[in-house]
Amino acid sequence: MADPVRIGLLGRGTVGGAFAALLAERADAVEAATGRRPELAGTLSRSEGDFGEILARSDLIVELIGGTDPARTYVLEALRAGRPVVTANKQLLAQHGEELFAAAREAGVQLRFEAAVAGVIPIVRTIQESFGVTEIDKVFGIVNGTTNFILTEMASSGAAYADVLARAQELGYAEADPSDDVNGADAAAKMAILARLAFHTPVTLDQVPYEGIERVTPDDLAYAKELGLSLKLLGVAERRDGGISVRVFPCFLYSGHPLAPVGGPFNAVMVEAPAITEVTMSGPGAGGVETASAVLGDVVSILAGETPVHETREELPMVADVSSSFYLHLEVADEPGVLARIAQVLGDHEISVKSVVQRGIGDDARLVMVVHECLESSFAAALAEIAELDEMRAAPRSIRVIEEQFV
Ligand SMILES: NC(=O)c1ccc[n+]([C@@H]2O[C@H](COP(=O)([O-])OP(=O)(O)OC[C@H]3O[C@@H](n4cnc5c(N)ncnc54)[C@H](OP(=O)(O)O)[C@@H]3O)[C@@H](O)[C@H]2O)c1
Repeated sequence: MADPVRIGLLGRGTVGGAFAALLAERADAVEAATGRRPELAGTLSRSEGDFGEILARSDLIVELIGGTDPARTYVLEALRAGRPVVTANKQLLAQHGEELFAAAREAGVQLRFEAAVAGVIPIVRTIQESFGVTEIDKVFGIVNGTTNFILTEMASSGAAYADVLARAQELGYAEADPSDDVNGADAAAKMAILARLAFHTPVTLDQVPYEGIERVTPDDLAYAKELGLSLKLLGVAERRDGGISVRVFPCFLYSGHPLAPVGGPFNAVMVEAPAITEVTMSGPGAGGVETASAVLGDVVSILAGETPVHETREELPMVADVSSSFYLHLEVADEPGVLARIAQVLGDHEISVKSVVQRGIGDDARLVMVVHECLESSFAAALAEIAELDEMRAAPRSIRVIEEQFV
């Protein structure tokens, strides 16, 4: 009989606790699949265990502490000591990925991290293995369940952002400090990881501009409904003009878009490439059991001997100014000629209008429009000019739109 595989578990919180339970529950299945029975060699938390002792007793390390410190030190030590590592830690990979991959390569051991992006959706494995030599054009999707829950609730109930956030916290979909979720930083870390995998080029968190959902108003969602749009916080990583663009931003989608119906705390990721057209995967983006299940899948892959490639093949430049379509919400004076003046400013910047709705009278007059794809720098310049017009009653509000309509 083969020796058992001894697993050192760093962190026994929401995910670590669920992983320990799942490991015990699925030990027979893991043994049947890989020929080796898994057992816990030790557990580290703030109050329990010693890292050095656990490492010495382990064949494989599972890191579920989170954050960059001390997780980085432990993961590097484990790799350098020749132990494969599984982690769910997006911050660690988005900030120190190159260093960790280099350490894994030098030691000839695997570093796996399926649970770091989009929870239980097997997007890391799919990009690394199924599409490992496919020329990917674009990876994008909803990679933060907290914001998707908030936007879905705001759209269906008409409630304000702060009220829905409080409800998300009560239900456990948002943490006590939700900043990194709602401001887009969490999604940016995940997109840095996906971009690196998809384009085989180093990408770190500080290269990913992000915007959150804190300023979205129920008003925007109500008007968007009228235009047939739904709002998502999207992460996008794509090839553009010989380089790549990786960004996170709130974005309206037309109802036929495959991501439009993805509601509540669910995540969904799309991959586009000439050879595969497009693939969409969706599922729970977080949760103790779900994340632990993705971690266990990585353990099984390591025991089965599958080795993903972490090579970077080229250094692609980051493209800063890309084209986007925008929704524009303007609170204007109820006077003749306002629409013409705004259209003139947009026209001066070579921006054409796709659709307009005009609503309200007097102090409630508004123009809500969608403009066709234009350079973001041109749109920003036009917006600055519009903001200065005497007819504006409030600062203009804008949100990107994906124009593509799926049938
Ligand atoms: N929760 C999710 O749904 C989810 C989803 C996807 C990915 N993840 C990722 O999974 C990882 C774990 O998340 P979690 O939600 O399970 O976190 P958590 O509930 O806060 O648990 C963290 C664990 O790490 C331990 N720990 C913290 N600092 C430590 C230190 N300095 N030394 C030793 N142990 C330390 C804690 O010990 P104490 O118990 O003593 O405090 C606790 O056992 C993170 O990287 C997170 O981003 C989580």
